[in-house]
Amino acid sequence: MTSIPKSFRIKSFGCQMNVYDGERMAELLADQGMTAAADGADADLVVLNTCHIREKAAEKAYSEVGRLKREDGSRPLIALAGCVAQAEGAEAKRRSPAIDLVVGPQAYHRLPEMVAQASRGARPVDTDMPAISKFDALPKRRRAAPSAFLTVQEGCDKFCTYCVVPYTRGAEISRPWEDILAEAHALVEVGAREIVLLGQNVNAWINDGRGLADLIRALARIHGLARIRYTTSHPTDMSEALIAAHAEVEKLMPYLHLPVQSGSDSVLRAMNRSHTAKSYLEIIDRMRAARPDIALSGDFIVGFPGETEEDFQATLSMVDAVGYASAYSFKYSPRPGTPAATMEDQIAPEVMDERLQRLQARINAHQIAFNQSKVGSDTRILIERRGKHAGQMIGHSPWLQSVHVETAAAPGDIVEVTLAAAGPNSMTGVVPAKKAA
Ligand code: SAH
Ligand code: SF4
Ligand code: F3S
Repeated sequence: MTSIPKSFRIKSFGCQMNVYDGERMAELLADQGMTAAADGADADLVVLNTCHIREKAAEKAYSEVGRLKREDGSRPLIALAGCVAQAEGAEAKRRSPAIDLVVGPQAYHRLPEMVAQASRGARPVDTDMPAISKFDALPKRRRAAPSAFLTVQEGCDKFCTYCVVPYTRGAEISRPWEDILAEAHALVEVGAREIVLLGQNVNAWINDGRGLADLIRALARIHGLARIRYTTSHPTDMSEALIAAHAEVEKLMPYLHLPVQSGSDSVLRAMNRSHTAKSYLEIIDRMRAARPDIALSGDFIVGFPGETEEDFQATLSMVDAVGYASAYSFKYSPRPGTPAATMEDQIAPEVMDERLQRLQARINAHQIAFNQSKVGSDTRILIERRGKHAGQMIGHSPWLQSVHVETAAAPGDIVEVTLAAAGPNSMTGVVPAKKAA
């Protein structure tokens, strides 16, 4: 490598926080005069913005590196970013000699400088978690999708015994109130109609005694911003004020992603989840009292060490008790350095497979039931992108269902539709014919 790259591509894996970070890295590189490579075109620099949450996700990082070799044997400059970069640091360079630089999620404001060093033949590594926030070093927002992500909180102090996030993202930190409002205004100016507040524990956000509910109420006053969402929340940080905001703030969408992981108290204890099945269900009850139509979503892990069939049955009962509108479920994956990885009674892969199938079938049944319960309702869709067919657009309902609709409306428009049909993963909306005058 001898010259500074002119074009770049960023590939983000993992959670929405990585998507946000990917957008910010793209803005940084564009600020240096680099251009984003068109889809399918070759790029001089490829940033792999990776995820370490499960073994498969982490392995993907390295298989992607292998795939970047061009037909003539050359390859682009390769930057390993994200949570694998943080977890492996310099070790990543040893595992894969093709990696030119390694940059952790709290250090990527240094990416342009590191790219310059790598172009001169160095192989820099930066996995520091500096006291000075990277956000202060990032350029102003210039582009936004109709539904835009905004990271307000990072890191985690919860130390669930299976999870790498406290190690890859560091301790819980909240961005200051003024910075968030400034970024929200900037996003709305460049086209955002919805803002999704992000954090590994977004509902733990706190600044000068103000909590997430206060922030949401302030954001709701931004003219031109139509919708607010937030994710991901921890049951322990679900405050009364936040629940009340769902009853009172019209722009706050009726949707809550509240991972529970298991329905069994003994598994929850072994996971170090500071909630029980009962305390979780009490939150759900309070949430439904505040906002009866709230769509609930969650995360589950099957096959945590020591999980018995009885424990697993409790998880199925939890799914029934909540009636999730959607939920994510994963097979437990032992992660290096986490307490659960060395626990006794690791569960056999075939038992995990079988439990995952049963759990997903149960979740799907509830998801279909939820979607069907909305058929016939009149609602509003935020149009986000074009669909496959001419004239078809795709957007989201307030309950975060993906909705297909035939309309001349453009991305960013909010259209009134009747939800006419339900599929397992999406809805069909119809724009009502205008009544004759
Ligand atoms: N902060 C969020 C979620 C972060 S990770 C929360 O606490 O709820 C997203 C999801 O990945 C988790 O909710 C969990 O269900 C899953 N997950 C995390 N570590 C895992 C592991 N080692 N194996 C399998 N799934 C895991
Ligand atoms: Fe991981 Fe638990 Fe923190 Fe969520 S709360 S990020 S699952 S340690
Ligand atoms: Fe993955 Fe890191 Fe997000 S491990 S889930 S990319 S916080």
